Amino acid sequence: MTVLPSHHPTLTTTTTKPEMPHYQKHSPRSTVAAATTATRTHFSFFSPKLSVYLCSICVTLFILFHIKILQTPLPSSQTSLSFLQTWQEKLTNNDESASCTHDVSTMADRLRESVTFLPLKDLRFANAALVGHTWFMSSLYDTHEEGEVQYQQFPSKSSDGRILCIKGRDTHDGSWNYYGLAYPGFLPKNATLVSGRTFVSYNHYDYGNIWHGLSALVPFVAWHLKSECATPDRWILYHWGEVRKGMSPWLSTLMDATFNGPLNIEQFDDSSYDDSPMCYEEALVMRHNEGGMSREKRMEVYDLIRCKARTMCGVELDRTDNEIRLTMFMRTGPRSFRNETAVVEIFERECKKVENCRLKVAYSSNLTVCEQVKLMASTDILVSPHGAQLTNMFLMDRNSSVLEFFPKGWLKLAGVGQLVYRWMGSWSGMRHQGTWHDTEGDPCPFPEDDRRCMSVYKNGRIGYNSTYFAEWASKVLDEVKTRKSEETAKGNKVPTKCACS
Ligand SMILES: *[C@@H]1O[C@H](CO)[C@@H](O)[C@H](O)[C@H]1NC(C)=O
Ligand SMILES: *[C@@H]1O[C@H](CO)[C@@H](O)[C@H](O)[C@H]1NC(C)=O
Ligand SMILES: *[C@@H]1O[C@H](CO)[C@@H](O)[C@H](O)[C@H]1NC(C)=O
Ligand SMILES: *[C@@H]1O[C@H](CO)[C@@H](O)[C@H](O)[C@H]1NC(C)=O
Ligand SMILES: *[C@@H]1O[C@H](CO)[C@@H](O)[C@H](O)[C@H]1NC(C)=O
Repeated sequence: MTVLPSHHPTLTTTTTKPEMPHYQKHSPRSTVAAATTATRTHFSFFSPKLSVYLCSICVTLFILFHIKILQTPLPSSQTSLSFLQTWQEKLTNNDESASCTHDVSTMADRLRESVTFLPLKDLRFANAALVGHTWFMSSLYDTHEEGEVQYQQFPSKSSDGRILCIKGRDTHDGSWNYYGLAYPGFLPKNATLVSGRTFVSYNHYDYGNIWHGLSALVPFVAWHLKSECATPDRWILYHWGEVRKGMSPWLSTLMDATFNGPLNIEQFDDSSYDDSPMCYEEALVMRHNEGGMSREKRMEVYDLIRCKARTMCGVELDRTDNEIRLTMFMRTGPRSFRNETAVVEIFERECKKVENCRLKVAYSSNLTVCEQVKLMASTDILVSPHGAQLTNMFLMDRNSSVLEFFPKGWLKLAGVGQLVYRWMGSWSGMRHQGTWHDTEGDPCPFPEDDRRCMSVYKNGRIGYNSTYFAEWASKVLDEVKTRKSEETAKGNKVPTKCACS
């Protein structure tokens, strides 16, 4: 963790002019500018006493505005800010106003104290935790351009030049963690200014699960792509507003590859700063996963992670062979095939019928991340039960095929969650070639479509139907064979250089 010396509370405002946020210099101020000029002309007629009086009104108004903005973000405060600026100009240009110096320093103090902290997890939205602005930092809205990733950036025009401050190191209850916005020159008391760029991730699920973890990290990669490959100095991970201090090794390895270096995940282990805010020089908040991104944008993101992962793992990007490689990616335990030998035999038989077809059987549980990356780079057809290991599919070349298998009961009871690998296939440019749902399985003590049966079916194992599997394999093999020879004829090639490298 890089902690800068903490921002000194007794700031220098009494002697020097507080630094104005840089955005002031280029914010659109046509109407505001007119107002400012008008104010200025008037001022020259005022007595110093009246000035002091006005000064305090400005201070009060400013603080009121400031507090209000946190609930209803966006432009309103620019007016008040230019009042402040007017005052500072007055101060530096006009000796008569020296009596106001004291008021300005009081104002700066109040500005610092007025930073309002709200809970990271807003329980009012507990039943709509993922909807709209979500229950995470619920008072703030995302920036969203059509087809692009949704994010919040601080400081920015929509944060009115303010930076993000967080008092948030609780690992058990997100409603005990807080956020607020502060002007860079007026950080709250005892705040630490943290330099560099900080990625703040919100994950409704789990950074240990590679599917959910990846979904939460994809938007950062999208932002990286659209921001001239800008990289983070640190990451802060939240789940329900609670701090998480790590992610699955699979994810962190892929993110290391993508962002060209080891991830620096904030640990908040410096207890001396326990209740003091950390204010981030630049922060980027993501809480909507891939939501809002077009299919093209998503594919670019997966292309980048794939390409970087292959480079890191030393996989030849430019491979030229005409093999058709079918990989059976097996699980052990829940959702594994009940009779693996029988299933392998069926696919082996079909593979043998196709020229240049090679079959491989692998277990997700005993491969390193790079072994998985390599395996996927040499897979055209992925045969695998429903499960997190399927997240690896995007590591295949684009247009590769996926065949997915489910135990009994899932079709009726598992809800949309069972579709995630179909979605992922589409988002990453693969061809999801359908699913097979077992009709046999462990008996459930309740009626078949009772939701309680899901607890029985969830971890069920998967049987087989020789006829169906053989026809399915044969059809996909044919299609892949045709496509590969067409692509070879067209000279389609996997790109040999990654974006952002
Ligand atoms: C700032 O820190 C000091 C020392 O840790 C503490 O006594 C004081 O209450 C803090 N002030 C605020 C406003 O949190
Ligand atoms: C699995 O299938 C194979 C081949 O079809 C068969 O010989 C074997 O008996 C089966 N094993 C079990 C445990 O059912
Ligand atoms: C991988 O795991 C499977 C099942 O757990 C096991 O049978 C196999 O021997 C393992 N392979 C290696 C190379 O460790
Ligand atoms: C994937 O298939 C589509 C449709 O056939 C084709 O237009 C595209 O070029 C292919 N992509 C790659 C990377 O081969
Ligand atoms: C197996 O698949 C075939 C072909 O789709 C189908 O006709 C048959 O009914 C299936 N068998 C069972 C037991 O489901």
